[in-house]
Amino acid sequence: MGVIVKILVLLLAIGGGMVYKNVSQLWVDLPAPQLNPQQWWGDEAEPKDYAAYLANNSEVIGNRLSYPQKTIDDLKSLLSRPLKLTPPLEGVAFEYGFNTDYLKKVVEYWRDDYLPRWREREVFLWQFNHFTTDIQGLRIHFLHLMVYDENKVGKQHYPVLLLHGWPGSVREFYDFIHLLHQSNLDNNNKYIFNVIVPSLPGYGWSQSTSRQGLGPAQVAVIMRNLMVRLGYDKFFIQGGDWGSVIGSNIATLFPDNVLGYHSNMCNNMSPKSLVKGFLAGLWPSLFVPSGFEDFFFPKSNELKYLMEESGYFHIQATKPDTIGAALTDNPVGLAAYILEKFSTWTNASYRSLPDGGLTQRYKMDALLDNVMIYYLTNSITTSQRLYAEQYAQEQRDLQLERVPTVVPTGCARFKSDIMQFLDTQLQDKFKNLVHSTYYKKGGHFAALEVPKVLYKDFIDFVKTVERKFRIKTL
Ligand SMILES: *[C@@H]1O[C@H](CO)[C@@H](O)[C@H](O)[C@H]1NC(C)=O
Ligand SMILES: *[C@@H]1O[C@H](CO)[C@@H](O)[C@H](O)[C@H]1NC(C)=O
Ligand SMILES: *[C@@H]1O[C@H](CO)[C@@H](O)[C@H](O)[C@H]1NC(C)=O
Repeated sequence: MGVIVKILVLLLAIGGGMVYKNVSQLWVDLPAPQLNPQQWWGDEAEPKDYAAYLANNSEVIGNRLSYPQKTIDDLKSLLSRPLKLTPPLEGVAFEYGFNTDYLKKVVEYWRDDYLPRWREREVFLWQFNHFTTDIQGLRIHFLHLMVYDENKVGKQHYPVLLLHGWPGSVREFYDFIHLLHQSNLDNNNKYIFNVIVPSLPGYGWSQSTSRQGLGPAQVAVIMRNLMVRLGYDKFFIQGGDWGSVIGSNIATLFPDNVLGYHSNMCNNMSPKSLVKGFLAGLWPSLFVPSGFEDFFFPKSNELKYLMEESGYFHIQATKPDTIGAALTDNPVGLAAYILEKFSTWTNASYRSLPDGGLTQRYKMDALLDNVMIYYLTNSITTSQRLYAEQYAQEQRDLQLERVPTVVPTGCARFKSDIMQFLDTQLQDKFKNLVHSTYYKKGGHFAALEVPKVLYKDFIDFVKTVERKFRIKTL
């Protein structure tokens, strides 16, 4: 070998070694970062004496909202303006976004059928006990299904935190809450669930922050403080969408508080997991139970879908306030923007239906309840900022996706959800993945679309956790 070749080989070896070292650094698990449990998000100046602030502001207040008639009349007049919508192209259903012919029908129904029944809808929305309490300077809203002592005898008693996402709200969980409530009443059932369903900060009736940096990790701190405030030191979590990310963060940052974490959108975005997902595509049968390969593969379908459907994500992660301004005080645009997701994320094939298949799996009233929550609380802009905060450098530097958690984890996969992760990917982060299921029917909004299936899956998970970990509360 010539000297030059020897030097080249040497350089290549050193280079290869360095790359390997760098890549393997991306592979290793990281310790959990410490987040400030008292970080202040309120509009007012941070209190100098936090203990005094807590002493004065920890009250939990029962809350019943009734919107003034003028608010409803204003909405009616906005919905009564002549619609100058651009007609869809010939033969186009939902492929270019919300079909404007159908949008007209939605607006008519909203104005002439739904809105005159608003007081009824209000009673419906307020059927559970609603509360607010002050956490780290923000007024946090939540539903609380409480079970009193006399019903507890001989039963296993578990608190459950249900976490929604975007563009959803607490409304997604109403049927699910009823199922938990029914099971509480059932004498043959050995569980009693206390159910806590918060609106995320900046969503619905929870206050938004005026400060930068309230990302999913910080929301996890707020939600954990809420549970501890209510006297729940150990609890189960269920969530999809952001609720899944925030729930995972709670399990990662506060494992001692979490009995089990159940999600219908489990994910692990660590570099190792993403490489594994790609490589698994070469031998699907090694990684996927037979019959469910099409949940994950071919990867090219997933990439195509991602390119077609993630525009909202990019705009909300970069310019949430611009798109927010376009949707504020614009109920027609708001409904189109929100409901398009309830069409495509429920089933991508609904894009070829002129009505987006919206009422195939949902009642229009349920969908409009959710739109009303965004409209009445003027929370579309603040809800979208969560995307920007997730992708801010400080949040990414936490690298929570690389911090493992030992909390028992359950993952329910619905075929039409917007992304899917293999067990082998999830297990890098969730060291106790004790429950992993597949459903051929259902999409992203499982709690709203298939509440019974999700409920049963959740109960199966709780049973598994009990059996394997012999947990004891209370
Ligand atoms: C390896 O990582 C260091 C920083 O950690 C960086 O400066 C260097 O350029 C990287 N080298 C290679 C070969 O990627
Ligand atoms: C707490 O509330 C009391 C009574 O309203 C008030 O006098 C006191 O200044 C408050 N303290 C703080 C720290 O806000
Ligand atoms: C999506 O819709 C198509 C057509 O209606 C149907 O065949 C398919 O089963 C649905 N997928 C899911 C996961 O529900």
